Amino acid sequence: MKCVVCRQPNELNVKEIDRPTAGPGEALIRVRRIGICGTDFHAFRGNQPFFTYPRVLGHELAGTIEEIGPNNAGLNTGDPVAIIPYLECGKCLACRMDKVNCCTSLKVIGVHIDGGMQEFLAVPIDHLLKTGEISIDQSVILEPLSIGAHAVRRAEITPGEHVLVIGAGPIGLSVMAFAAIQGAKVSVMDVNEERLKFAREWANLHRTLNALDNPMDALSNITGGDFPTVVFDATGNPGSMMSSFNYVANGGKLVFVGLVKADISFSDPDFHRKELTLFASRNATRQDFETVKETIRTGEIDSSRYITHRTDLNHIAGRFEELFDPTARVIKAIVEV
Ligand SMILES: NC(=O)c1ccc[n+]([C@@H]2O[C@H](COP(=O)([O-])OP(=O)(O)OC[C@H]3O[C@@H](n4cnc5c(N)ncnc54)[C@H](O)[C@@H]3O)[C@@H](O)[C@H]2O)c1
Ligand SMILES: [Zn+2]
Ligand SMILES: [Zn+2]
Repeated sequence: MKCVVCRQPNELNVKEIDRPTAGPGEALIRVRRIGICGTDFHAFRGNQPFFTYPRVLGHELAGTIEEIGPNNAGLNTGDPVAIIPYLECGKCLACRMDKVNCCTSLKVIGVHIDGGMQEFLAVPIDHLLKTGEISIDQSVILEPLSIGAHAVRRAEITPGEHVLVIGAGPIGLSVMAFAAIQGAKVSVMDVNEERLKFAREWANLHRTLNALDNPMDALSNITGGDFPTVVFDATGNPGSMMSSFNYVANGGKLVFVGLVKADISFSDPDFHRKELTLFASRNATRQDFETVKETIRTGEIDSSRYITHRTDLNHIAGRFEELFDPTARVIKAIVEV
């Protein structure tokens, strides 16, 4: 079967390898769609310090079941599925508290272990989600959309709240969509006008603002002087993350969805004066995947325009860098297998 391997930074190769076999508790999945995201690009570039090579990338995955044994999940050969790529240990305190998304020894398929940029992949049956009610294209965007759904779930938004999402990339878009579904008045901030334009058309937004144009005044105007009670930062930019403390109303919540390999500092007197609550949001859980699947099924989320670019296993190596070129206007690129 065909497999795309990242042999070392900046090198993707297509090669023929043997089909994997499913071990105990696993199913063999025929991979049909692979979503590409910033994590893959950082790994490709060699910017992921804990990444080891060679590695098969691909953690946003949808396919059909090729082989499966008797199981309690009601899954059969031929079923369309999405893969929940975060493999937890099931034993650590986080797992015992049902916070498997932040398991102390989490292994993410396509990050810590080989992923889905290949024709077949063996996956634990309990990490499959049946997706018959939605299309295969919609199944592959469950993972990135679940990141936003999880962050919004953590923030416990109440209808009518002013929410600010900073960063209108694929992750920020998912946050905006789910915040709007919770009934929030969602404003979005970015530095990229193209991204703001896309966000305006894609999500049901209150306002869009440019981070370079005096955001404090703009936010004060939008909220009648109150400021947003929930701010999500989905930029992955340390400067933005540090500024984001200023945008939150007194008593409000700040959620870091974006992440950086850097220290983030803030003024403790301001943090205390406002009595802020700071959240990290990591990955997602099956519950979030189920939520996203349902909102796609009911049409609450516009899944059609989220995928902007397509390629296949033979062409991904040659097109990989282009998919991260800001001028290419990529939101989500997928590989069709
Ligand atoms: N929480 C998780 O589990 C999880 C999962 C996947 C990705 N992420 C992280 O989420 C972040 C966003 O991912 P993405 O794929 O959407 O990235 P992206 O780079 O496509 O989007 C980031 C957006 O932020 C904007 N931006 C950058 N600096 C800014 C600033 N100073 N002010 C305002 N806007 C600014 C950019 O213009 C861009 O539109 C990344 O840090 C990524 O690592 C987190
Ligand atoms: Zn991803
Ligand atoms: Zn664990």
